[in-house]
Amino acid sequence: MTSLADSLNVRGFTLRNRLVFPPILTNLASFDGSVTEELIEHYVVRSSYVGLVIVEAAYVSESGKYVQRQLSVHDDRMIQGLRKLVEKVHEKGATIVLQIVHSGSKCSLPNVTPLAPSSDERSKELTKEEIKAVVEEFAKAAERAVVAGFDGVEVHGAHGFLVNQFFSPLTNRRLDEYGGTLENRIRFPVEVVAAVKRKIGNKLLLYRLGADDMHPEGVSIEDSKVLARELEEKGVDIVDVSGGICGSRPAQLEGVEGYFIPQAREIKKAVNVPVIGVGGIRSLEYANMVIEKGYVDLVAVGRMLLKDPEWAKRALEHANIIKKMKQ
Ligand SMILES: Cc1cc2nc3c(=O)[nH]c(=O)nc-3n(C[C@H](O)[C@H](O)[C@H](O)COP(=O)(O)O)c2cc1C
Repeated sequence: MTSLADSLNVRGFTLRNRLVFPPILTNLASFDGSVTEELIEHYVVRSSYVGLVIVEAAYVSESGKYVQRQLSVHDDRMIQGLRKLVEKVHEKGATIVLQIVHSGSKCSLPNVTPLAPSSDERSKELTKEEIKAVVEEFAKAAERAVVAGFDGVEVHGAHGFLVNQFFSPLTNRRLDEYGGTLENRIRFPVEVVAAVKRKIGNKLLLYRLGADDMHPEGVSIEDSKVLARELEEKGVDIVDVSGGICGSRPAQLEGVEGYFIPQAREIKKAVNVPVIGVGGIRSLEYANMVIEKGYVDLVAVGRMLLKDPEWAKRALEHANIIKKMKQ
């Protein structure tokens, strides 16, 4: 039986256990998006035990920036600071990947008209040329992350950001080949992944999948299985399952431990690559149980590790005790 404390080999990388620190925006970067000492310290204290650290969403271009003091990977100038972050986390023994994002219509900067699959009161519809340019921005950002020493990247395809906006019929009302049918709505996410894959070669490629919009007219889990299979085909190594347009922490699910685990279990049925599950996990027992039962291959614990980085140590100790008892 697999335990939370067991390692996992993916594409030649050994994750020392199944515990993941998921991407969580800190607003600890500089105003220009570069790494600060505070940001490094934040990750270092959370890297001593977990197998995988996914660094918070870094923007791939100015137009894709979400909030002030967000981390950036949009320019070569960022590489130096990112390299220092990676080195410090590697010293702690964790594998580290960078999440890359374009915020699309969620861009909240003053005097910027956000770009989106379809226009609304705030946003402008992307032309096909602009779509190609954004795909290229993702690819370049991924390349920078690799140059900085990251073990890989995670494409942010969840929580209503641009890649997710193309996937969801709630936000994509295009009439061209990027909208309408499911096949068309997954075109942009798949193009981004393929372009990133070409740049990062044998480094890890993760995709944060907005697997469920929790809306009758939105993305369903069946749609997400189709996308997940296509992502695997294009070289995604790990599917990180979260919410779609409903966000990462839907109010109606707060208090439910493992609230996106059901979606992760469904995606796991559709793909052969490892799957990460997440959502309101607080107890040592629950984190180990989802691995033991094979619901997911990796489990992400965010807010608990924000509050108490030592929780990871206790979770792994607990998993080891249970393992011994069962031997
Ligand atoms: C303050 C905050 C910032 C977040 N930033 C990101 C992010 O940058 N990228 C992302 O994919 N998810 C982000 N999330 C979602 C988390 O990765 C995670 O999925 C969510 O918090 C649920 O897991 P938890 O209950 O263990 O915290 C954020 C969550 C919080 C609370």
